[in-house]
Amino acid sequence: MRRAVAFLFILVVVALAGVAGAMFAITKPEIAASSDAANFGRKTLARGETLAALGGCGSCHTRDGGQPYAGGRAMETPFGVIYSSNITPHKENGIGAWSLAAFTRAMREGVSRSGAYLYPAFPYDHFSRVNDEDMEAIYAYFMQAVQPRPDKPPANAMAFPFNIRQGLAVWNALFLDPKTPTPPAGTDPDWARGAYIAEGLGHCGACHSPRNLLGAVDQSRAYAGAFVNGWYAPALDKSAPAPIPWTQKALVNYLMDGWDKHHGLAAGSMAPVSSALRDQPEDDVFALAAYIVSLTGQRSAQDQAAAEAKALALVDRTEWDAARDNAPPDAKVDAGQRLFQNRCAECHKKGGKPAPLALNTALNLPDPTNVVRATLEGIKPPRGALDRSMPAFGHQISQAETVAVVNFMRARFTERGPWSNVEDVVRRERQRK
Ligand code: HEC
Ligand code: HEC
Ligand code: HEC
Repeated sequence: MRRAVAFLFILVVVALAGVAGAMFAITKPEIAASSDAANFGRKTLARGETLAALGGCGSCHTRDGGQPYAGGRAMETPFGVIYSSNITPHKENGIGAWSLAAFTRAMREGVSRSGAYLYPAFPYDHFSRVNDEDMEAIYAYFMQAVQPRPDKPPANAMAFPFNIRQGLAVWNALFLDPKTPTPPAGTDPDWARGAYIAEGLGHCGACHSPRNLLGAVDQSRAYAGAFVNGWYAPALDKSAPAPIPWTQKALVNYLMDGWDKHHGLAAGSMAPVSSALRDQPEDDVFALAAYIVSLTGQRSAQDQAAAEAKALALVDRTEWDAARDNAPPDAKVDAGQRLFQNRCAECHKKGGKPAPLALNTALNLPDPTNVVRATLEGIKPPRGALDRSMPAFGHQISQAETVAVVNFMRARFTERGPWSNVEDVVRRERQRK
């Protein structure tokens, strides 16, 4: 109820801002059609390609089955549906007529070449921190190395008043802050570089941070974990639920190789992020890891060892051991346990290839979505860990069986209480095609 009132209030404020915007013409000028796409060197193009991957441009600007960067991917927001733009160098429907200045303005200020404000579903609130050199390389890559495509994305379906783009001038005034964080005294010299990557092009917080009612990253709860496009991005702050606290070394493994023995695999919408990090300079990934560790909170070697010992003891108690755990076919056991024995324990067992489930963050999250999705859809691993795929079970196990096995895993492999919404989440996820 309080949320509904707050929402109404915001609706009114934004509507007024929209009207004010229209009246006082809070507009930005159009930047004339032109192109600076002249002969960037091969090194610049290659760098631009790895930077574009880090920025996740392809994940958002390519629709399923569509041409790279031709746009049209639907993004659900609380305010309606937004479709990503065509950012191929097509002259009419893409950004082929954009100068470097127009491109830079879009990335830093969220304003299209025409002068129209762009929705922050495009994470320009992060990209505003990208420096000139990186900006130029990304621009060069799109102008010279990407195939032009004529696709036109469908029109957005935003509710009033959010369909009035001028209202975003207010949003920008409130939330656009292109500063990069300054390193606290005594931190690792890599920290600043890591912050530049995470808070800028990597836009880690765009997924890992909760948002306020206006859809902006809630800075007071930065990295406290959030739902984005159907996946839960775990907390990376002091509340991080990883059973073994993250270390810089484990993070480098996870981010670059997509897997760490104490944490498992980068799955779901983290998989493309890890695949992109694989091509970044190694020093950059170490720097990024130093920054992320500083968010989760530094701990003494002693505390780290104690947390590790505790988690590994849980692994010892819970890992599936066929000799001990396999129930004979006629024994009465919990349906989830039975299914786990029959379908999952062939891989998820003592000495099996996947990291022990007792070390898995997804099982320790406040919401079961990631576990349900992995079970139904299987796992497509990131590029650094191609030998770690998991088959999809969605078409083989029923609604009730899925609920049972998810509840069983939460009870067996964690020390947390049961999830209360497993049935609903399984029903919802089974409808996803
Ligand atoms: C999280 C999703 C997301 C990511 C990541 C993303 N974009 Fe976008 N981008 C969008 C959406 C959605 C729009 C359309 C916004 C609108 O219509 O207001 C957009 C619009 C744009 C525009 C404006 C196009 C126009 O015609 O006005 C440019 C330029 C752009 N993106 C470039 C990029 C580049 C370059 C990257 C990678 C560095 C990138 N985007 C990454 C979602 C994303
Ligand atoms: C498009 C959304 C998205 C972006 C962008 C993103 N992440 Fe993630 N991240 C996720 C999701 C979803 C998971 C959970 C993956 C799983 O369950 O296997 C995750 C997992 C992680 C984990 C593992 C947490 C744990 O305890 O298991 C780390 C570490 C991480 N991300 C770091 C980063 C960093 C660093 C960046 C920026 C370079 C980043 N993420 C950008 C969505 C994202
Ligand atoms: C063919 C081997 C195989 C089978 C069978 C299998 N898995 Fe997996 N599973 C994997 C691999 C590989 C991973 C990735 C983790 C790793 O490698 O450390 C994984 C990861 C997971 C995760 C973690 C997902 C995340 O977001 O981090 C869950 C949950 C899971 N499996 C559940 C199940 C369930 C439930 C079953 C049975 C219905 C099952 N698995 C059967 C191989 C398998």
